[in-house]
Amino acid sequence: RTVYVNGEYLPEDQATVSIFDRSFLMADGVYEVTSVLGGKLIDFPGHMARLERSLVELDMNKPEAFDDLLEIHRKLVELNGIDEGLIYLQVSRGSAGDRDFAFPDTEVVKPTLVLFTQSKPGLADNPAARKGIKIISIEDIRWGRRDVKTTQLLYPSMGKMMAKKAGADDAWMVEDGFVTEGTSNNAYIVKGNKIITRQLSNDILHGITRAAVLRFAREAQMDVEERSFTIDEAKEADEAFVTSASTFVMPVVEIDGETIGEGTPGPKALRLREIYLDESR
Ligand code: PDD
Repeated sequence: RTVYVNGEYLPEDQATVSIFDRSFLMADGVYEVTSVLGGKLIDFPGHMARLERSLVELDMNKPEAFDDLLEIHRKLVELNGIDEGLIYLQVSRGSAGDRDFAFPDTEVVKPTLVLFTQSKPGLADNPAARKGIKIISIEDIRWGRRDVKTTQLLYPSMGKMMAKKAGADDAWMVEDGFVTEGTSNNAYIVKGNKIITRQLSNDILHGITRAAVLRFAREAQMDVEERSFTIDEAKEADEAFVTSASTFVMPVVEIDGETIGEGTPGPKALRLREIYLDESR
């Protein structure tokens, strides 16, 4: 792979970042994942707008190449011949040449910018979407600014491992009795014509796919209800699904061992997946 690091396109084994980089030492970094279908970037402006917001919220400098990000994404797609896949982008606060809890002076520190591609043939025609995925519920013990897309992904990684150990595919996190979101996706249930997903706040990531899917749901005459729901309510729902840049709309067919609906992907989830893929490409 050819990757991008701080202004240079390099073979991945030649790309380096300082050991004092704050994303490495403190998880003091933010990231975005944008999907690529047919060589085309999906929902790119939304991802870049959220990146800018993450930087502002953490008082982080913008990387010098901020205005060239579209060009950099396109060049990486081209250099790596990506037809279907993902582009990962990370901005770290940078390195002050030593370890220190205090942020380095914003006047002097330069953010680190890294991008790489992941080729994923079959991302759109994912067999998992035909079968649906199994979810377990776990407690949400993450920090209180989940609206900022930081590189602090230890607990979501652990959640994914807990799911795998339990023979499931992913986990939904629960706080004060209500589902916040999935380890790396937003969570939904369907009741009749209603698509229900948690309201936006600092408690969840404001999914770019979520915004598009809710728009498409309204356009398709589905009712959208942005509110919290419990695992018990989810177990009794007609359908459930998750959304993210890497899964688009992915049906959920089991929660904590209990079958959702017929135990097969629901018609609304499949319809929204189809619309999302058609409209984004
Ligand atoms: N994750 N919630 C969390 C906690 C996420 O990590 C993600 C995305 C989402 C969905 O956001 P979007 O629709 O903008 O992708 C919700 C990415 C895909 C990742 O970490 O790989």
